[in-house]
Amino acid sequence: MAESTPDMAESTHREALVTLFSTGGFVAPEEETDDLIAHAAGDDELLTALVERRLTGEPLAWITGQLRFCDMEIRVDPGVYVPRRQSQALAHRAVTCLPPRGAAIDLCTGTGAIAKVLSTAHPGARVVASDVDERAVACARSNGVEAFCGDLFTPLPRSLQGDVDVVIGVVPYVPTPALALLQRDALAFESPLSYHGGPDGTDILRRVLRGSRRFLRPGGVILLEVGGEQADILLDDMAQLGYDDLVVLFDDEDDVRGIEAVWRSAPSR
Ligand SMILES: C[S@@+](CC[C@H](N)C(=O)[O-])C[C@H]1O[C@@H](n2cnc3c(N)ncnc32)[C@H](O)[C@@H]1O
Repeated sequence: MAESTPDMAESTHREALVTLFSTGGFVAPEEETDDLIAHAAGDDELLTALVERRLTGEPLAWITGQLRFCDMEIRVDPGVYVPRRQSQALAHRAVTCLPPRGAAIDLCTGTGAIAKVLSTAHPGARVVASDVDERAVACARSNGVEAFCGDLFTPLPRSLQGDVDVVIGVVPYVPTPALALLQRDALAFESPLSYHGGPDGTDILRRVLRGSRRFLRPGGVILLEVGGEQADILLDDMAQLGYDDLVVLFDDEDDVRGIEAVWRSAPSR
């Protein structure tokens, strides 16, 4: 019988973990296994502990402390919302809307991933962010983001009022009845504060639409992630608030993912 080499033992170990995650219903068992093995860096006891944490459903990014978003390494602290792949397209869109020396606000920034993408693409721009959760603000700052703690626009520098080119927000927008349908991991670990958008999911979106008018310059762009019926619910109100050139953004599967609009000016009465 051939003797087993360290390489063979490692690959058997890897196979076993892939099978464990796969039978546990994890959607990317190979990637998860490789991330955890890399994070454990050869320490078997640590690897066992990491795997046990993951099997409870704790987000992988909290365990490894990082995630790739728009091809950038983002630090993710435990307790802070894990940026979703689906939000990358909105971040890319914001990059194209922001002039090189312009100004942008990333509302409800979480880890600060979107703000970091913007400031990396436009080092000469002023990019600020806010979040109501202190852990998120600390995490965003550790990602190099100029982040402020508080409700939406309240903590942001007043000097930016009327001067901002882009307001972007992946804000909580899950309608109350849909909270129970969220993935098990999200429900068990992430805070409802990250998700809950009121009865139809538009409570915070509406506050953002109203508040952005003070900060956007005429011609500035608002980009918001939305789901389900929310674009339809909001479009009329947006026109009444003075937004123009309203566009509904779809993902590759033709699902509504966002809304984009240009701020012109307050409508005359
Ligand atoms: C869905 S997460 C999105 C985080 C980040 N934008 C991203 O895409 O990764 C929503 C974030 O909104 C924050 N939040 C909830 N209500 C808020 C409010 N009223 N003002 C500021 N931040 C808020 C939560 O703490 C959470 O970090």
